[in-house]
Parts: sequence; structure tokens; C-alpha cells
Amino acid sequence: MASWVRRMDSRPVLPQEMPVLSMLDSYVSRAGERWHMPGHKGRRPEFGDFLHWSYDVTEIDEMLQTPNPVERSEELMARSYGADRTWYSVAGATLPVLAGMLAAFPPGATVWVDRTMHRSVFGALVLGGYQVKWLYPSLVQAGLTLPVAKAPPAWEEARGIVLTRPTYDGIAADIAPIIAACHAANGVVMVDEAHGSHWMVSPYPVSALQLGADVVAHGVHKTQDALTQTGLLHIQGHRVMADEVDRWWRVLATTSPSYLLLASLDRLQWARRQPHYAERWRAAAEAALVLREDLAAAGWVIWQAWAERQGYAADPLRLTVMGPGSAVEARVKRVGRVEKTTQDSCTFLLSPGQNFDALKEALGPAPLVPSPQALNPMPYPALETAMSIRDAWLHPGRWVPLRDAVGLVAKDALTPYPPGVPVAVAGEVLTRNIVDWLLDWHAAGRAVIQGVKPQGDDLWVWVVEA
Ligand SMILES: Cc1ncc(COP(=O)(O)O)c(C=O)c1O
Repeated sequence: MASWVRRMDSRPVLPQEMPVLSMLDSYVSRAGERWHMPGHKGRRPEFGDFLHWSYDVTEIDEMLQTPNPVERSEELMARSYGADRTWYSVAGATLPVLAGMLAAFPPGATVWVDRTMHRSVFGALVLGGYQVKWLYPSLVQAGLTLPVAKAPPAWEEARGIVLTRPTYDGIAADIAPIIAACHAANGVVMVDEAHGSHWMVSPYPVSALQLGADVVAHGVHKTQDALTQTGLLHIQGHRVMADEVDRWWRVLATTSPSYLLLASLDRLQWARRQPHYAERWRAAAEAALVLREDLAAAGWVIWQAWAERQGYAADPLRLTVMGPGSAVEARVKRVGRVEKTTQDSCTFLLSPGQNFDALKEALGPAPLVPSPQALNPMPYPALETAMSIRDAWLHPGRWVPLRDAVGLVAKDALTPYPPGVPVAVAGEVLTRNIVDWLLDWHAAGRAVIQGVKPQGDDLWVWVVEA
């Protein structure tokens, strides 16, 4: 029987040892320009120096006013997004996704869910015990995913839909027809727009709130000037009740939110209402589109430009160049760090105020034109469901080597990262195809598989006890 207990190692304890601070010091001195999250890129924002120890308070009398300063700030943030109500999260976009879904759909309800979901959506599916109807992405290739673009074939008993938009690489489908169809069937639309909180002007994709979604989750730290772990939940219209969100928020959120994170959100709502804010984002997008063209002229194939030619919208500030990911990363290492690599691509997260020319110079001419197969459609593997996600999660389980798991029922989501889209979720029957695929990806170092445990040379997986 394998034991999964991680033992303390026996290294001596050094008097000055602070491993996390040491890592951060070394990172800051060596990383160079950050072409990755968080969106503030380690720079001090233009207003509101809130990083004082003295600002780290909790439960002070000033919060007893109605509305209290946090509620007032949330109102101002809601206005900046055109939402009816906004909640501040100090637990990233994860808390907004959880509370938004649980408030939007009664536990046990049937819901359409976009399979490009983040694990926070999976968490809500476990907690809410939902019956899931899957919408699969139209294509997954080279570790990159295109978004779900078609409305479900029928709504029947479904209470609504959960969409993830954009993909990690900033690709967004036009979801207006899906929203219209869902509303016509009296359903609720929840959009996990974790990576799109900065979309407020052209040429960015139109935001889910503007398109009429009922509940939207944002991870503002991912792209805007806000500290890591800040997020927002918005609602608009009459389909989701604020009281329901409040109830779930009380269940899921900390009772001691960090005022440093709340101050960071307050600063952001102020910044978003300044006349030059939208202009700054527009200018950054335009500069990024020039960078895209220059790179295309240097022979690079850009994933976002390719997706746009297929009719999708793309965030101008996500840049994914096709080519051997680690070789591309090595080219830019001298000047900075990238967001992610796959075997066939490398992704950069651009932000206003960054010097895009430095990135262009570091990238230089394209190393090689990617083979046409790198952009070939691959059918998304749809698996048979043996039991609901929650039932599988709660059912007794056992660990087995992944290679022996064909025909067994998964107890967790199995997610190769990148792209971070689960290939199997709890309650689904593992097939030969999926098992071989995961083993191949792992062996070739193409992805870290979340939801499995390495043990010696083997991967082990948690399955439902028969
Ligand atoms: C699509 C999506 N939704 C939700 C989240 C959760 O965000 P956070 O890490 O801020 O909790 C992420 C994180 O990467 C994400 O990519």
C-alpha cells in the first residue's frame, strides 16, 4: 500500500533560514522584466501607497458605519463596471466563482458547464452537488484551447450555464447568442472572466457584463494594478439575488479580510474612474498590436492572430508565439520571465507601461515555422459519467497506478497544466485513451498532471472504491 505522507526531511535547521523570503529576494534581483502575472508587474502604482504595516487592521470601529467604507468602495467599483452590485474578494477569483455559482444555481440543479473551466468551477460543482451537462471546447491543440462558442443544443431542465471566458491565452468567443438563448429559457448565465477584468474599451473584447451575463467573476490581480489574491464578484439584473450571494459569502469567505488587499482594491476603483485610465489601456493594446505585426513580419505565428482569423476575439495584451516553448523562453530569459510555455508555444502577459520593444528584440526572428500539425484540430475526449461529481468525491476511494486505472471511476479532476483544462473529472470512467494520453504527456514532460501523485516512476490516481 503506497503511503502519501510527505515526511519532513532531515536537513539541519539554519538560524537565518527564511526560505520564502530568500526565494523572493533572489527572484526580484534576477527576474528582469515580468511578462507574467500579476498585472502590476512589481511596480508601485501611481496613487495610494497602501503597503504600510500600520494599515493592516481588522474589526475597527470605523467599519460600524452604514454603509461601511468597504461597502462604499464596492459601490464605486460596481459603478466603474456598470454592475448592480460588486463584492470584494481577498481570495482571488476562486471565492467569486464559488459564491457566484452557489448563489446562481440551487444545490443539486442541472447546469450546463463549459469544460474549459478552472478548478474553482470544479470546486463549486463538488460543493453544489450539481448535475452537469458538459459543453466541450471546439478544439484543443498544442496545449492551447479554443473557447466554447456554441449554445447548448437544448436547455430542458437546466437552470443555466457557466462559461469561462477568455481562455488562459485570452481568446474569447462571442457569447451574446448563448446569453440570449439561456435567458429565453429562463436560465442564469455565470461567466468566469478571471482573465478579462481590464476589458473596458476597444480593441479589447466586449466584457461579459456588457454582453448581459447575470453573474461575473473577476481575478483583478491577474491583469490590473492590484495585489495578488484580489478578486471581484458582480451581479446585474433580476436573476441572481444579492442576499443569496451574501449568504454564500458568509459561508466561504474569511471573517478577517486583509485591509492591505482591500486598500489595493479601493485604489483600483479610484484608478478606474480617472479620465486617463481607459486611455492608458487603449494605448497599451494598440502598442501590443503593433508588436504582434512586427513579430509576424519576423516570421512568428501568433496564436491570438490565428484565433482572430477563425472568428474569435482575442485580448491584445496576451501574446502567444508558436515555437518550441523552452527554446523561446531561453531567448527572453536574459531580459525577463514568461507566463507559460508548452512544447509548441510560449505565452507573455503584456501590461500598460511595459517596454514591448525589449521583448521584440529578445525574441528576434522566428526560430522555425511551426508545422501545420501544431495548429491541427484534436477532438476533445468526452468520457462516460458513472456518478455525479459530488457522489464520486464523497465515495470511499483508493489509490491505484494510473496505468491500471482503465475502466475505473475518477475521484478527482485530472488536469494537465498547461492548458489547465481537465481531461477527466470525478465520476467519469477512465478510458485506455485518456490513461495513455496522460502517461505520454507526463513522460514527455509536456505537462504537469494535477490530480495524480508521482510515486517512483509511476503516476497514481485516486479512484472510486468498487
Ligand atoms: C479561468 C480562471 N478562473 C478562476 C481562477 C482562480 O483565480 P485565483 O487564482 O485568483 O483564485 C483562475 C486562476 O488561474 C483562472 O484561470
